Amino acid sequence: MSRAVALGVPLAACALVCALMASTVEAADDEPVDDAATPPSRIVIAHRGASGYLPEHTLPAYALAHGMGADYIEPDLVLTKDGHLICLHDIYLQATTNVDQVFPDRARDDGRWYAADFTLEEIRQLQAEERLGSRFPKGRSRFAVPAFTEMIELVQGLNDQTGRTVGIYPELKAPEWHRAQGLPMEEELLAVLGRYGYLERGAPVFVQSFEAESLKRLRALGSELRQVFLMAEVAQYLAFLSAEGIGGVAEFADGIGPAKTMLERQPELIGWAHDAGLTVHPYTFRADQVPGRYDSHEAELRRYLFDLGVDGVFTDFPDRARAVVDEP
Ligand code: G3P
Ligand code: CA
Repeated sequence: MSRAVALGVPLAACALVCALMASTVEAADDEPVDDAATPPSRIVIAHRGASGYLPEHTLPAYALAHGMGADYIEPDLVLTKDGHLICLHDIYLQATTNVDQVFPDRARDDGRWYAADFTLEEIRQLQAEERLGSRFPKGRSRFAVPAFTEMIELVQGLNDQTGRTVGIYPELKAPEWHRAQGLPMEEELLAVLGRYGYLERGAPVFVQSFEAESLKRLRALGSELRQVFLMAEVAQYLAFLSAEGIGGVAEFADGIGPAKTMLERQPELIGWAHDAGLTVHPYTFRADQVPGRYDSHEAELRRYLFDLGVDGVFTDFPDRARAVVDEP
């Protein structure tokens, strides 16, 4: 589906049409349903939903990602003051909501509105907005900040309706900071996942974090779910950028999620990870931010997926990555 078509019809209808298209194609081909026991060899992870088309971390963006054929859908997670996990990239609210208009007096002294200072009921009064000015126009339509439970129920409902098993790929944002606020995240994450049936190692879920201690804590709490250790191009990850360092990650994770530029600079990371039994899912592929050295978004995707040999990609444009992954 083209960007123009996707934006030219009501959002809910578009998401539903996309979901039905995907299920129809699958039914017509009479292919087996993907599940965690037979994972696709390379996976498409919808980064913040289909966030290239709709405001990030909204239910319409997640629904569109499902319809566009994502294998997994990513919610970033933070906690509210009353302990609910919500889908939000930042620990702050002002970049992607109208919190400054609804609660003008609730910023901290640093001028930021923290999600951890608001109850879920208060968060529900906010409108979610696209972060980037070049994407979905601000002020058009109405979007909300979803609770994690609402995201899961949407994905599981669409799975039931389409016969496809799309997984979830939640990221705990700033777990150490949350713990210092008196809001431990790991226990609540496992409680919610358990309530919705994500318990076994083969469940269609990857839990991700930039903080190794958080992933270790999840293991200590008894989680068998697959875990991915995120890495960025900053000093704290230097110790992991060797065969030995990557090997150590296997003690608390099942995969790595590096910034894609780390793999351009040091492609041997992929082989070291694979040798350690780790999958490699780089972030973030964006059709509207293609690095100049590539002729097209698809050329960049092919380089990582087929030349470098990664196991999946985080993408804001899951339809485009789906098409490349499925190339004969
Ligand atoms: O989780 C993978 C990727 O999303 C990490 O970066 O900042 O987009 O959450 P960020
Ligand atoms: Ca993320």
